[in-house]
Amino acid sequence: MLNNFVQEKNIWKLRNFSNMQAEILVDTSSTIGDIDKRIYGQFIEHLGECIYPGIWVGESSKIPNIKGFRKDVLDAIKRLKPPIIRWPGGNFSSGYHWEDGIGPRDKRPKKLELAWNIDGEMKVWNVVESNQFGTCEFIELCRLIGAQPFITVNAGNGSPEEAARWVEYCNFQGDTYYASMRKMHGYPESFGVKLWSVGNELYGEWQIGYCLDGVECARRTIEFVNEMKRVDPTIEIVAVGCDYDAQWNIDMVKHAGKYFDYLSIHRYAFTSGMTYHDLIAEPFIWENILHTIYGTVEMTRVRVGLKKEIKLAFDEWNVWYPEAKPPMLKQNTSVKDALFTGLVLNMLHRLCREVPIACFAQTVNVLPLIMADFEGRMFVNPQYLAFKLFVDSAQDSVVKCLVDSPSIFLKKLNRDIDLVQATATFSKSRDKLAVHLVNLSENDDAVCKIQLKGFKPKKAVFRYVSGKSLDDKNTFDNPNNIIIEEDKAKIENDAIEIELRRHSVASVLIEGLTQ
Ligand code: AHR
Ligand code: AHR
Repeated sequence: MLNNFVQEKNIWKLRNFSNMQAEILVDTSSTIGDIDKRIYGQFIEHLGECIYPGIWVGESSKIPNIKGFRKDVLDAIKRLKPPIIRWPGGNFSSGYHWEDGIGPRDKRPKKLELAWNIDGEMKVWNVVESNQFGTCEFIELCRLIGAQPFITVNAGNGSPEEAARWVEYCNFQGDTYYASMRKMHGYPESFGVKLWSVGNELYGEWQIGYCLDGVECARRTIEFVNEMKRVDPTIEIVAVGCDYDAQWNIDMVKHAGKYFDYLSIHRYAFTSGMTYHDLIAEPFIWENILHTIYGTVEMTRVRVGLKKEIKLAFDEWNVWYPEAKPPMLKQNTSVKDALFTGLVLNMLHRLCREVPIACFAQTVNVLPLIMADFEGRMFVNPQYLAFKLFVDSAQDSVVKCLVDSPSIFLKKLNRDIDLVQATATFSKSRDKLAVHLVNLSENDDAVCKIQLKGFKPKKAVFRYVSGKSLDDKNTFDNPNNIIIEEDKAKIENDAIEIELRRHSVASVLIEGLTQ
């Protein structure tokens, strides 16, 4: 079936093809693993214009809002159906005292925000946090969106006691001091926040209250979890892992492994000096890194005789352009970044057994998917559209998907990768199948034949995001330059044929019958 599979290495040249052929084989009877929908998570932080005015404008604002949340952004986030939202940081969480953000808004203290009050050149920004958006606003936001809250406690300059009180305020049902305070603030029922992380990037000198090594961080994690779980033993814990220090991860699992469920890993593709080819190599490098970290965690777990499972929470990831400087971290990404996003989401499908949680950093205005200004204007960038293609079509488990397409040699990887990249997801009801595609070619459309093994297609919807060039983007003045488009998918017996645009991300959602 895959008669193009053998190729001569490195000699294929892009420009010689104007219409490449790709064959994709999907075998629905061969399952790689179940998808935890939390891999499509989002992250918002009190940083730059993310929360103010990206999410919160207040009830008296001229910008149309629901209970103070701006409506345009709310609707845009809703359309992404994030299963979880991580908050309040990021670096911000390491200096945040949650009690500043509760109770009547006009009584909340304005505080100097120190986490981001410095950059590499020791410039000071004097950012002020108004605390208008706090715990209850965050929970309201999650409810309006239909997402589960994921809270990072302050393990920088905060205390285990303060974190345990936060758990009490959110989750305790009795009539204790902090639970009663929540009730007094208008919320008789527990918020039931399940997912908590203890600290953020505590390995980094840029972090308020950072740790010297994994042993110190393990000690701190134990102290926090020990106290937080006495309030609510049912919560799940994410602890700080490091993407570049294996010893850190070994120490965390060895000393504190009993106390947490997920090890957090963050990763950004810093694009300074990167070519397009370097950029698209990044998700493949990340895949190796995440897989290796998972291996380290497993190895340590076995060595110390820890019975419980520990998986990874990839709870910050994105590209990061030099234009995204503190204190705003604004960037306006383009089609190539949508391809990058599609590659990362495909990577997360392949890693579904090892990485059940991931959060895009960040949702609004900071390294953003959505741009929203003080005048009430908004647009989404191509990365948002790529995200949407995935969340609209993704099914319950990842199934085997093989691709045979012309390839490209990536110097950074020192190997070839297929120009057409794909994963496939299948519904538990066995009647829906989605193929998630990226065509990395700058110049060539690809005629893709998707051969389905064990599945008879009846209907197929093919949607994609492409644009005129790799650098094409949306702006406030031209917000619909790049949109999700639809094209026909030809069904022939047990195969589907589509024409996949050059530099595009796409999804094919197929309805049919398992044979
Ligand atoms: O997302 C921006 C920042 O990047 C986060 O605050 C921090 O955790 C990471 O270094
Ligand atoms: O704006 C961020 C990046 O910078 C865009 O993706 C690209 O078009 C530009 O070079």
